[in-house]
Amino acid sequence: MTICRDSFELMKVLVLGGGAREHALVRALRRSPKVKQVACAPGNPGIAQEATCYLSDPTDSRYALELARRIKPELIVIGPEAPLASGVSDALRVNGFNVFGPSQQAARLETSKIFSKEFMQRHGIPTAEAVTCQSAEELIEKAELWPGPWVVKADGLASGKGVRICTTKADLKNCAKDFFEKKVLGDAGTKVLLEKHIEGREVSLMALVAGDKYALLPLSQDHKRLLEKNKGPNTGGMGAFAPIKDATKFTKKLESAVLKPTLEGLKKDRINYRGVLYIGVMMTKSGPYVLEYNVRFGDPEAQVILPLLDGSWFDVFSKIAAGQMPKLKWKKQAAVCVVIAAPGYPDDPAKGLKIHIDKKLIKITETNYLLHASTASHMGLYTNGGRVLNVVGIDKNLESARKKAYQLIKGISFPDMQYRKDIATSKG
Ligand code: GLY
Repeated sequence: MTICRDSFELMKVLVLGGGAREHALVRALRRSPKVKQVACAPGNPGIAQEATCYLSDPTDSRYALELARRIKPELIVIGPEAPLASGVSDALRVNGFNVFGPSQQAARLETSKIFSKEFMQRHGIPTAEAVTCQSAEELIEKAELWPGPWVVKADGLASGKGVRICTTKADLKNCAKDFFEKKVLGDAGTKVLLEKHIEGREVSLMALVAGDKYALLPLSQDHKRLLEKNKGPNTGGMGAFAPIKDATKFTKKLESAVLKPTLEGLKKDRINYRGVLYIGVMMTKSGPYVLEYNVRFGDPEAQVILPLLDGSWFDVFSKIAAGQMPKLKWKKQAAVCVVIAAPGYPDDPAKGLKIHIDKKLIKITETNYLLHASTASHMGLYTNGGRVLNVVGIDKNLESARKKAYQLIKGISFPDMQYRKDIATSKG
């Protein structure tokens, strides 16, 4: 008799990170039949209900390695960009662990906006015209190169606060003051890209990548502005949905004009990528333009893509970690995620506000649930950052998925909580 080990062995997985995206990853991995145990570092109070959490700094390679040696996971999934930027994936991989997450070298596509713009220019990937500036004076002077509005992008990682859209010269001066004089983003904002503003519809294109093999994920859309009708400051994302309308129409074009040249560029630059590649794209009248690369799942896009797989994420991530590309099958469903943020977000979110979740008012099910983004628990649940909670709804179409997500908000309250009411609508 042949014994198939795979069907018996139950696996341990370690997820690094502690936001709503990682909560969604933990949830997806827990629902993978082969997975026995999920650990997460550092996790959060919501994740702690589904996984063993280890208090830690996931960006510290020594700690991640020590933890991995203790837990001995069959798979490590890295959620956020910071550990990728600090080389945690490389440290784990050279020590024999199976890691879903690209190398530190590949992470430069996200960690330096200037590097990523030069990559696009070098490989003929459509993107807006841009110049580098290293001082307030240079920024104001170079703004004469084209009429406004202007987009200013901090070169370094800025937790969703690094992009400013400046409509007037006064906005531009304020931005220059914030980045170069007040140094509100620290070193991340001391070099910037000044970019031509382009109009269109923003789409989140994500693909799983294993070297030169790839698989597209359903196209999703994020709502980046804080307020309804796309008003207010840029945020990390106030909600997302998938799939988007016209997905089939866009997909072919995006694959040929954007994804394939990007993967060819990575190959030419000898960057072996294993993980998920996020490409923020503006669909304009003259075709797609790349706005940014991220080297991890979008947040909140992951929250609407992960539940749509008809299969096991453990199997998918493990294959990619081993350099292979699995076949993906998707449910014929839609998912909507609405972000609930703290007052003061994105500039100065209020921490320590007591959160009430009235379970009598809401019904949590497999297709209708909460994810924790920045919460703290200490004799109750409190806000602990900008994006606090997510509500997710999954159903046969966008409209009913949307209703399911919003229904959950009825049971959640904290002082001055903010959320958009137009996620996944044509007004959003
Ligand atoms: N939602 C956009 C991002 O994750 O960067």
